[in-house]
Amino acid sequence: MNTQEGLQLVDRDESGVDTAFREDVLKGLSQEQKAVPARWLYDDAGSQLFEDITQLPEYYPTRAETEILKAQSASFAERIEPGCAVVEFGSGSSVKTPLLLSATDPAAYVPLDISGDFLRASAQDLAGKFPNVPVYPVEADFMRQVELPSAVANLPKLGFFPGSTIGNMVARTAVDLLRSMRETLGDGAKLLIGMDLIKDEAVLEAAYDDAAGVTAEFNYNLIRRINRELEGDISLGNLTHEARWNDEYARVEMHLVAQADLQFTVAGKPFSLAKGASIHTENSHKFNRRTSSMMLLASGWEPQVRWLDSDEQFSLILAEAKPNRSAP
Ligand code: AVJ
Repeated sequence: MNTQEGLQLVDRDESGVDTAFREDVLKGLSQEQKAVPARWLYDDAGSQLFEDITQLPEYYPTRAETEILKAQSASFAERIEPGCAVVEFGSGSSVKTPLLLSATDPAAYVPLDISGDFLRASAQDLAGKFPNVPVYPVEADFMRQVELPSAVANLPKLGFFPGSTIGNMVARTAVDLLRSMRETLGDGAKLLIGMDLIKDEAVLEAAYDDAAGVTAEFNYNLIRRINRELEGDISLGNLTHEARWNDEYARVEMHLVAQADLQFTVAGKPFSLAKGASIHTENSHKFNRRTSSMMLLASGWEPQVRWLDSDEQFSLILAEAKPNRSAP
C-alpha cells in the first residue's frame, strides 16, 4: 500500500480538539444566519447515517446513479480507453466503484480521501475484488491539487466523482474544486461526474426529510458532535430538522430550526438563537443540462456525454480537460 504514513491532516490542540472544527463552528455560529460547513456532518456516526440514507425509499440519487452505471457499461467502454488510471475523489463506494472498474478495464485505481481509515478499508476491499488492478490510495485533501503516485504518471487519467457530492458546494467552491481536479489530472484527462437534477420540489424535499426520520438524525448528529467535541450545551429537544428548497440557488438546504428562543455555549462562547431562526447545515445543489455544462466549462472541462437514469432524476456526465485553445 502506497499510503503516505505519518501525514497529519487533522490539527488537534492539547486537549485533542480538532481546531478546524472549532474554528468553523465558532465562526459559523457568530453569523447572522448561523451555518456550519457540511463536511462536519460526516464523522463516523454521520457517515454511517448517510449510508442508511442511501437505502431510503425517498432518497433516489444513489439508486438512480447506480442504475446509470449498470445500464451504460457498454457506453463507458466505448468512450473510455482501457488501461487508464481511475482517480476517485473520495474513498469509493462498494457498489459504484466496482461497476466503473468492470466497465472501463483500467490499469490502476487511485482513491483520494482525507480520512485514512476509510481509504485503507475501501482500498483493501477493491484490491480483493480486482486482483489485476493495482490500487494506490492517497491520503489527501482533494480540495487542493494532489500529486498522483509516480506509478500512474504516464497513464491516461479518468477522474470519478459520483454521488453529486459537487452539489454540496456553492458555485465558487465547486469551480475551485473542479479546477484543482483538472490540475491534478492534467490536460487530456476525462472526468465522470454525478450531478443530481432539478425536479419537483415535493420529491426533493421528501428525499431530504424522509418519513423514517433518518435524515433528521443525520442533521441532529452534528449537534451531538458539537456538544461532545466542543463542550457545547445546545438543547436538541428544541431544534427541528427542516429540508427547504431554495429556488433562487437551485438547492435543497438542511436547517435546524429553533422551536423556542435558545441560549447556549460552545467552547466557552455564548450564543443565542431566536425562535424560528435556524442553523444552516447543508446545501445540496441541483442542476439541469445548461447549469451543469456551465459549471464544468467554467472550470476547464468540456462536457462530452450526459447519461440519465430511466426516470430522468440524475445525470452522470463525461467531460474532457481540453487544452486551452484560441477563441474569440
Ligand atoms: C453526500 C452530499 C451527495 O446532498 O444528497 C443526503 C448528502 N444530505 N441527505 C446529498 C445528504 C442529506 C448528499 N451528498
